[in-house]
Amino acid sequence: MSRALVTGGASGIGAALVARLRAEGFEVESLDVVTGFDVSDPERWDEVGPVDVACLNAGVLGGPPDPADLTIDGYRRAIAANVDGVVLGVRRLVRVMRAGGRIVCTASLAGLTAVPDDPVYGLTKHAVVGFVRSAAPALAARGISINAVCPGFVDTPMVSDTARSALVKTGFPLLTAAEVAEAAWVALSSGETGHAWVVQPGRPPLDFRFPTLPGPRREGDRSVGLPPPLSA
Ligand SMILES: NC(=O)c1ccc[n+]([C@@H]2O[C@H](COP(=O)([O-])OP(=O)(O)OC[C@H]3O[C@@H](n4cnc5c(N)ncnc54)[C@H](O)[C@@H]3O)[C@@H](O)[C@H]2O)c1
Repeated sequence: MSRALVTGGASGIGAALVARLRAEGFEVESLDVVTGFDVSDPERWDEVGPVDVACLNAGVLGGPPDPADLTIDGYRRAIAANVDGVVLGVRRLVRVMRAGGRIVCTASLAGLTAVPDDPVYGLTKHAVVGFVRSAAPALAARGISINAVCPGFVDTPMVSDTARSALVKTGFPLLTAAEVAEAAWVALSSGETGHAWVVQPGRPPLDFRFPTLPGPRREGDRSVGLPPPLSA
């Protein structure tokens, strides 16, 4: 039987990912802090063996809108769960996964747009998107794919009752956790790597296209484009 792991599988989107992968016939393990696995602990990752599919999904909110009000503990906790949890997970997984392995990370629309309500959350989710896009070529060389899903608001315990009521009052639709799990499955099955998939209510998962950056220009010359790989 194929094996899968889901971080943050005890709640919300993670629990839906566990159910979705079990429906596909995977033997699924949930790694969650509530059951003793902290994704920011590199020693716990050292105990993780090979899997065919990994969903790096555990995450927390970042803190208040005004950076002046940030607590050091809250800031470090968000970086640990949202950034360390993905980087350390990928580090371990690429060491043990076989070719054909597939990874999907739960980022957020907060990884693609500004989030004035929670700048630290925006920071961490931009980090996840940037890491997925940047690490994809190294993983591809090992035959492993990595993608990010970027959902809007999802009806899980992460959304406070106050925020949920405010959204419902204005008729703003929330995603279900099952819809996000389905989008993650689409990303995992896409054959793509290094992509960010936008997940919004009422739309199929969208393979987000990033704008092309302007390269440098030399006087009287055409654009020279982006630099070649520097590690060669
Ligand atoms: N709910 C939303 O609106 C929304 C939108 C976009 C993205 N996301 C992202 O989806 C992911 C899942 O969130 P959710 O909405 O299901 O929230 P949730 O709070 O229901 O679930 C998060 C899970 O992660 C676990 N977790 C937290 N820190 C951990 C750690 N250090 N180590 C291991 N497990 C840890 C929690 O115990 C919990 O089971 C998160 O990365 C979140 O940022 C959520």
